[in-house]
Amino acid sequence: MTSMHLILIGLSVLHARTGGLNEQKLDKPVLKGPSIALKDTSEYFYCEIPGHTAAVQVHYELYVETNMDKIISEHTSLTGDTAALLLFVREHHDGRLICKASAHNNTDIQSSYSDAWELRVITPVKGLGIISHPSSLNVWEGQTLTLQCKKAQGTHVSYDWFLNEMPVQMQYDRNNDTLIIHRLSARHTGDYTCVASNQFNDTIYNSSSEAVTVNVKEPVGGAVTLTPFKHIKDFQVVGVGLLCKVERGTFPVYRWFHNGSRLTGRGDFYAVAYSDESFLSLSVSRNSNGFYHCDAADRFDNSSSISSAKMIISEEALNSVSPLVAVVVFTCFAVLIVAVTTCCMYGVMLRRRYSSKYPLNEQRGINKIPVKDEDDEEDDDYLMLEGYDEDVTHADRMSDSNEDEDESVDETLLYEGAAPE
Ligand SMILES: *[C@@H]1O[C@H](CO)[C@@H](O)[C@H](O)[C@H]1NC(C)=O
Ligand SMILES: *[C@@H]1O[C@H](CO)[C@@H](O)[C@H](O)[C@H]1NC(C)=O
Ligand SMILES: *[C@@H]1O[C@H](CO)[C@@H](O)[C@H](O)[C@H]1NC(C)=O
Ligand SMILES: *[C@@H]1O[C@H](CO)[C@@H](O)[C@H](O)[C@H]1NC(C)=O
Ligand SMILES: *[C@@H]1O[C@H](CO)[C@@H](O)[C@H](O)[C@H]1NC(C)=O
Ligand SMILES: *[C@@H]1O[C@H](CO)[C@@H](O)[C@H](O)[C@H]1NC(C)=O
Repeated sequence: MTSMHLILIGLSVLHARTGGLNEQKLDKPVLKGPSIALKDTSEYFYCEIPGHTAAVQVHYELYVETNMDKIISEHTSLTGDTAALLLFVREHHDGRLICKASAHNNTDIQSSYSDAWELRVITPVKGLGIISHPSSLNVWEGQTLTLQCKKAQGTHVSYDWFLNEMPVQMQYDRNNDTLIIHRLSARHTGDYTCVASNQFNDTIYNSSSEAVTVNVKEPVGGAVTLTPFKHIKDFQVVGVGLLCKVERGTFPVYRWFHNGSRLTGRGDFYAVAYSDESFLSLSVSRNSNGFYHCDAADRFDNSSSISSAKMIISEEALNSVSPLVAVVVFTCFAVLIVAVTTCCMYGVMLRRRYSSKYPLNEQRGINKIPVKDEDDEEDDDYLMLEGYDEDVTHADRMSDSNEDEDESVDETLLYEGAAPE
């Protein structure tokens, strides 16, 4: 042992340190090798102490810097040659590699470490899928959507995003698997795919995900309107339908109120219809009298709702329509008769005054007046018919949902007494 020590002291690889032999240390080794390697292949890394001769046997060990407890390859150089460290490349070898040199079977000489050597281990990318937060079926305008491109395997991957097979028109970090879309709007609706790729030498590996359909929903907004439809039988309003409609919103759902109390399903005088509950049909009776309104909310988030104006529905008011019209028509007739009578009397007076001068002209003049009035009367009839036609077309529009005949619309009447909230 003593003779061994004496030999070692003379060697260039050893630094005489302050103090005794116990503090001698090997020179710093140098590590080289490939800087990129494909997973599950074998590669050689080379470690040597420059200028080292065979006088002392050096043992070389290879480590990953982050795990210095685990030797990943080792080699003992008996001859002073460069150590060739064979490494079967695993994914966890990705990172900084360190070579440790120690004197073989001699713990009195301190070991030394090389600088780190960067190794990129390439695993071809495979098995992509998109994870969406929140779920892509439930995203609202204005929200933030996060799409993550998850891979089953792959290292040193870069990502490309496509919307309806066109590159996504926004800035994103290709090295990050996550695409974040702030303030969603309708233009973000569509099929998203991600393509991930990595490269080893000249070979490019790539993989594409299945498409994820993102549907950006518009929340309810704007005004809520109530449209009434009358159901007339034998000149009596026997039923009223109310249609509730909100200006904007992809998935509205409606609620109905009578004098402020909620109406659901079917009751003794009403029924709520359609899957979004937008239609309320009423059979007109004393029970159905009162104020009606509806409100609209989002199907998936009913925390806020928009209310329509209140509409009054009263059995008496609805069915006093025909007498009212009759009174108006009767009054018109009465006025007409008075007018004609007045004209006749006036004519008679004129006749008395001018009969000697213009007997023929006068005759014609008297005939003309009632003829003209008759024309006006015919116009009135025609207008009423026209109004009736319009009602019929409204009824046709509704006939899909309501098989009853004789429906018509008279919004002006029903809106009487309607009070905005
Ligand atoms: C070095 O140690 C190993 C065991 O650790 C032993 O087998 C070998 O004989 C030793 N060599 C010398 C030269 O002492
Ligand atoms: C990717 O981006 C997200 C959000 O900006 C961030 O939290 C995450 O750390 C990033 N990941 C990488 C690997 O850069
Ligand atoms: C990768 O490229 C390096 C340098 O161009 C070359 O030495 C090596 O043989 C290549 N490896 C493969 C597997 O093509
Ligand atoms: C993926 O690879 C195929 C062929 O290997 C190539 O045609 C295609 O352009 C690549 N896609 C991307 C996004 O790199
Ligand atoms: C609803 O209000 C109207 C008018 O105030 C009233 O005539 C009717 O009886 C009320 N109906 C119910 C069920 O409260
Ligand atoms: C909102 O919806 C939930 C679940 O469907 C229901 O329990 C709740 O009563 C609703 N709130 C309102 C105000 O309608």
